[in-house]
Amino acid sequence: MTIVYNEQSSSFHLYNTKVSYQLAIVNSKYISHVYWGKTVGNTHTDSDFPMWDRSFSPNPSGSADRNFSLNTLPQEYPGHNNGDYRESAFAVTCADGTFSTQFEYDSYAIKEGKAALKGLPHTYASKDQEAQMLTIQLKDKLKGLKLELMYTIFEDYPIITRSVKLSNEGSEPVEINKLLSASIDYDHADFDLIQLPGGWGRERDIVRHPVHRGVHKIDSKRGTTSHTYQPFLALCDPKATEHTGDIYGMHFVYSGEFMANVEVTEYNHTRIQMGISPEYFNWTLQPDEGFQAPEVVMSYSPDGLNEFSQSLHRFYQKHLIRGQHQFKERPVLMNNWEGTYFDFSEEKILDMADQAVQLGIELFVLDDGWFGKRNDDRSSLGDWTIHREKLPNGLKSLAEKIKAKGLKFGLWFEPEMISEDSELYRAHPDWVLKAVHREASVGRDQYILDYTRKEVRENIINQIKAVLDTVPIDYIKWDFNRNMTEIGSQDPSISDGTVTHRYMLGLYEVMETLTTAYPHILWESCSGGGGRYDPGMLHYMPQTWTSDNTDAVARLEIQTGTSLVFPISSMGSHVSSVPNHQVNRTTSLKMRGDVASAGNLGYELDPTVLTADESRIVKKQIDFYKNHRQLIQYGLFYRLKSPFEGNNEVAWMFVDENQTEALFFYYLILDKTNTLRPRVTLTGLDPHRRYTVKEKGESEPKVYYGSELMYKGLFVQPPLAESETQSSYQINGDFRSVCVQIKAVD
Ligand code: GLA
Repeated sequence: MTIVYNEQSSSFHLYNTKVSYQLAIVNSKYISHVYWGKTVGNTHTDSDFPMWDRSFSPNPSGSADRNFSLNTLPQEYPGHNNGDYRESAFAVTCADGTFSTQFEYDSYAIKEGKAALKGLPHTYASKDQEAQMLTIQLKDKLKGLKLELMYTIFEDYPIITRSVKLSNEGSEPVEINKLLSASIDYDHADFDLIQLPGGWGRERDIVRHPVHRGVHKIDSKRGTTSHTYQPFLALCDPKATEHTGDIYGMHFVYSGEFMANVEVTEYNHTRIQMGISPEYFNWTLQPDEGFQAPEVVMSYSPDGLNEFSQSLHRFYQKHLIRGQHQFKERPVLMNNWEGTYFDFSEEKILDMADQAVQLGIELFVLDDGWFGKRNDDRSSLGDWTIHREKLPNGLKSLAEKIKAKGLKFGLWFEPEMISEDSELYRAHPDWVLKAVHREASVGRDQYILDYTRKEVRENIINQIKAVLDTVPIDYIKWDFNRNMTEIGSQDPSISDGTVTHRYMLGLYEVMETLTTAYPHILWESCSGGGGRYDPGMLHYMPQTWTSDNTDAVARLEIQTGTSLVFPISSMGSHVSSVPNHQVNRTTSLKMRGDVASAGNLGYELDPTVLTADESRIVKKQIDFYKNHRQLIQYGLFYRLKSPFEGNNEVAWMFVDENQTEALFFYYLILDKTNTLRPRVTLTGLDPHRRYTVKEKGESEPKVYYGSELMYKGLFVQPPLAESETQSSYQINGDFRSVCVQIKAVD
């Protein structure tokens, strides 16, 4: 990995064995994007973009060259009102009301390692040898403004990260109206756009379509990343598949409002951009102040989407997620939410825990309803005191009893919220986040706490600490169950345009404080399921509740979409009871187990009502999972058949780094009578090695060459659920699955 500055051509080349990124200083002033893709040699790193005179593409003043125009030049960080009519990356308004800027190249610096982004989540290098950083400084001398464009390249990853800082070196305040984190220009538009939109209960669909003339925008104006869009987009070769083709992705390391654009221009060029949404953002920089924009991870793959995902998984595991649980196997948990909802007592929870131990569960999680006087979702958020009617002996006693059974104990919090019916609200109604003198909308009968205020953050930290300092807690689920409205603060010193970003800085500060103070705790973030599943949260909390939808069939799509960008070790997936509470579908316990086992396995049901047969199946599932979770959580994950390609079948694979062990999961959604399904070809194995292949539960393995499994494939006949108990294969039936174990013999 290295970053070179070529003095003769005034250009930079960041490269390692997997990726090259080149940019050049043009006319001693402008920073032009040159190349991003597969590693190339180091001789021509200068801007070779052919310029010619195009009508209505103006030439900057001072340039005698009619061929040169910012409207066509591929740029690294485009401004506006300067002859480039495409979407800008930033916009400011000066104290005198003017908004024209002209930034010119000033200097550069190359450093070993990676600097932290203070107060913001960021990717990191544990050792200086793991990364190198380039900072390019641009200045607008008239306005006294400085822009720093920051790039990091990591050893062994096809990944570059970018961020931007704007500083006011003048004597007057400057308003930032927009400050995106990254922008890239391509000299063609032969791309498909891939994005991950969704909604509550159906997070992260993989949606792909050709780019087209004009601007395509995805964003969040909800004060959080949201279920609606993931802060991610990728451009890919229209012919790219899971196994072939160029993919270029951008993913935002931020959990608040964002925006991402794809613009195809009049010249059929493509510009992609990502950053904080300018919609409710307006930040005044006083003299000597700076604003640091969050980071964008730019990831490239020359070999299709599987490799793209695998690099991101590895990268996030090693360079984003932190703490004691970074590489630890995730415990198999039982969560009481779908089993009891708010209706539980100490006795009920202890009965559930007794049964959980029998099944092999390792962690018992007490979800919503243990605090204040919370018997439904209308009260008590903000009052993190024990609900004595439900837990007369207190939480400490309950936790100790659960731990005495050999289980770890986990607890649910929703620390950013306040119910109108709460002691906290009665004492501090002005702590609700809302514009002054405006009525606030409610969502799930609750308001958001104003985390821009120090006293609010301190109050919540102290309340949570009071619980954590007295109760032995091993895991916390951190929830966030509504989105922002009437954005503003009741503290008149905080201007509306700063609220959403200040809120995020406040939240990050609270999470940093608590996760540092209690490093042994495994933190799982949640927002009505996967409404805030983003790289920003992963920097503090190594796993996320993927979706409130626990239906096995719905989960095939949700987990496939999620796997495009997030590591399996971060993905909570639970078996729940049937008919499923979200979609009312009945699937076999086998299929539910096989779907949930392809993530961080948990159970979210009342184990005291399982039949003996069901308990036996669950116990087997958990045993099997414990033996294979290292491979599942930290192995290489492959999507073989995607539910988004009109498939009625879904297939996933996990392979270890040494290609000695693999698991193949196959799911059939709806069956058809009197058909023959073709062979399924596997992937990721060594073609020259021989492997034993056996279905989970079967005793007699068969031996195949890797080449046979990958090129010729296997006929797969998933058993119906009954086969687990009766070992009889039936030919027909919906919702079936099979899990095949593959082990190298040579
Ligand atoms: C959210 C979460 C659920 C559960 C409930 C509790 O919806 O996503 O898993 O914790 O809150 O109210």
